[in-house]
Amino acid sequence: MAKRYYITTPIYYPSGNWHIGHCYTTVICDALARFHKMKGEEVFFLTGTDEHGQKVEKEALKRGITPLAFIDPLVSELKDMWRLLDVRYDRFLRTTDEDHVKCVQGIYQKLYESGDIYKAEYEGYYCTPCEAFWTESQLKEGKCPDCGREVTKQREESYFFRLSKYAPRILKLYEDNPQFLQPTSRVNEMVNNFLKAGLQDLSVSRTTVKWGIPLPFDEKHTAYVWIDALSNYISALGYGTEKDGLYRKFWPAQLHLVGKEIVRFHAIIWPAILMALGEPLPEQIYGHGWLLIGGEKLSKSKENARPELTDPYELVKRYGADAVRYYLLREIPFGSDGEYTTERFLLRINADLSNDLGNLVSRTQAMIVQNFGAVPPRGEAEEVDRELIAMCEGLFGRIDADMGALNAPEALAEIFALVGRANKYIDETTPWLLAKDPTKRARLGTVLYNLAETCRICAVALKPFLTVAPAKILRSFSCDENAGFDTLKFGVLKEGMAVEKLPPVFPRFDVKRELAEVEKLVGTPTPLPPSAGGGKAGLSSAGGGKVGMSSNGGGKAGSERSEGGSAHPERSEGSPQTKSEISIDDFAKVELKIGEVIACERVAKSDKLLHETVKIGDEVRSVVSGIAKFYTPEEMVGKKVVVVTNLKPVKLRGVLSEGMILCAEGEDGTLSLVSPEKLVASGATVK
Ligand code: MSP
Repeated sequence: MAKRYYITTPIYYPSGNWHIGHCYTTVICDALARFHKMKGEEVFFLTGTDEHGQKVEKEALKRGITPLAFIDPLVSELKDMWRLLDVRYDRFLRTTDEDHVKCVQGIYQKLYESGDIYKAEYEGYYCTPCEAFWTESQLKEGKCPDCGREVTKQREESYFFRLSKYAPRILKLYEDNPQFLQPTSRVNEMVNNFLKAGLQDLSVSRTTVKWGIPLPFDEKHTAYVWIDALSNYISALGYGTEKDGLYRKFWPAQLHLVGKEIVRFHAIIWPAILMALGEPLPEQIYGHGWLLIGGEKLSKSKENARPELTDPYELVKRYGADAVRYYLLREIPFGSDGEYTTERFLLRINADLSNDLGNLVSRTQAMIVQNFGAVPPRGEAEEVDRELIAMCEGLFGRIDADMGALNAPEALAEIFALVGRANKYIDETTPWLLAKDPTKRARLGTVLYNLAETCRICAVALKPFLTVAPAKILRSFSCDENAGFDTLKFGVLKEGMAVEKLPPVFPRFDVKRELAEVEKLVGTPTPLPPSAGGGKAGLSSAGGGKVGMSSNGGGKAGSERSEGGSAHPERSEGSPQTKSEISIDDFAKVELKIGEVIACERVAKSDKLLHETVKIGDEVRSVVSGIAKFYTPEEMVGKKVVVVTNLKPVKLRGVLSEGMILCAEGEDGTLSLVSPEKLVASGATVK
């Protein structure tokens, strides 16, 4: 029976503002999942979103929309990000999914019935961004010990989980099973900071938070977000339901990979819950390090992301998914923190991908095509060949050991050591000189065969890590891009197989020029995918001017984008003013309504954008428009405008835009609002 491998990322807060640090856990999990799949194991890779809690409730309220209306576009953005990075999960769980909600309620019911959950009164300090409660003694200078932000004192009736009861069993778990929590430094942190002093029972319900899962035995209370969130690891598999086939097959998980700041929840609270439920524990919790900027955790909320280019969307668009994945998987020693700079990113991809791997492939292919036209015959091996062949043949064993220890950087270092050896082999065997001497043709064939095989082997070994270039390389040697690890042996290529000379697989970036360009780019809106209504490509008018959407040409600020933005976004600038004809049905797809601007302000750090609050009938929407050069916020308030109301929401400079205000564009580019000529109520349909 095939081995099973169940791997999970934490489920993400729908915060938007995704940065390259967010991609770290998930890209590593994706590489691990791909690696195990290639080993022929049955893999289940879970990720998702953690959607309940006070923070979401507040944000939605601020915008006058429902929590789900607030979250949905952010979830789409996150999924887009994973698509862009070629992350292939088996399930994307949302904690608002019905099966998850039922499962969490079942867990609470079970723990309540067994007496592990009881009712009492809670008094403590709550950190909204971390969704965590602290006792007074745990606070650092009166602030949240995790993020250093303000906490609020809360006192209310609450249900408690008997966490204290499980402290001795958790300590014993760490002692008996050193693999359970890794790296070992995290065990010391847990023991010294929390377990030594004994654990207090945990408040696991709130009456003040409405946006949460109601407890089945007391609907006034909602589930504490961390119990809700942690349960995703088993709810995703159907735990506690009749359809629990996946649970029986995949649980316990082999790995919960998490950032170090959330180890406490995973290595203390989660095992205690599972112990209370009488379920097996995951095999390993690994608390990885962080991507840092200026020595601090990369975090948009701390505004330390600039001037570095941290937007995954922008990075992928500019440098490709392989480059971003490679950087994340190779640069930071596993388990440690690592400083992120755009320069280091560029230096790393230039050195390894463009110089070492790119050159090896292009030199090998150029020489084969020029001298043989196809895979050459392989002759007798010399000592220098045997060394290269041995390195190729031992590669899988080495990367398997590294990946067994979750160490993707080391596995990649092994592959690139082989790439480096092959480049040295070219210098040692001097095929360009062999090519000049007709008596050395057989030797030239052998050298080039060995190089082609090395390229192929490296491409197969790179498949879990990079998702574009390996397939290209394999195809160019007439090999199956779906080749598995069973092909990691020397001698698979056969004489006469077609070889294609690829254009450079990885471009080389001029670091200085890139850094200068990136500096301009950071903080400047970049175009949105057309699906978000980007650009002025909207509705054309009869006159000389255009009626367009006043959303800054569909600008995208920093890491923010619309849902559905998986394609390379191109602004339709310069497109002809008269578009091809559309049917009345096409036009009917656009929902236009009259809205009244009830509040308006400038968008911070933008000279083009205004943020309007628009009342459309009973609904209030947040809309961002690129009209700050033509209207002041004061002028906008009270205006009746035409709003496109069925566009997918998008964020511009961090501000949600749930529609577009129509403007006419004069010959000189001046924008003028389109308004109803007679008095019309807000919410009226425009047709
Ligand atoms: N919702 C919780 C997890 C609940 S799991 C039951 C959460 N979400 S998160 O969105 O804040 O974080 C998701 C992942 O991104 C975490 O693993 C976190 O460590 C990771 N990262 C966020 N910023 C990071 C860096 N700067 N560097 C590396 N990883 C970081 O926590």
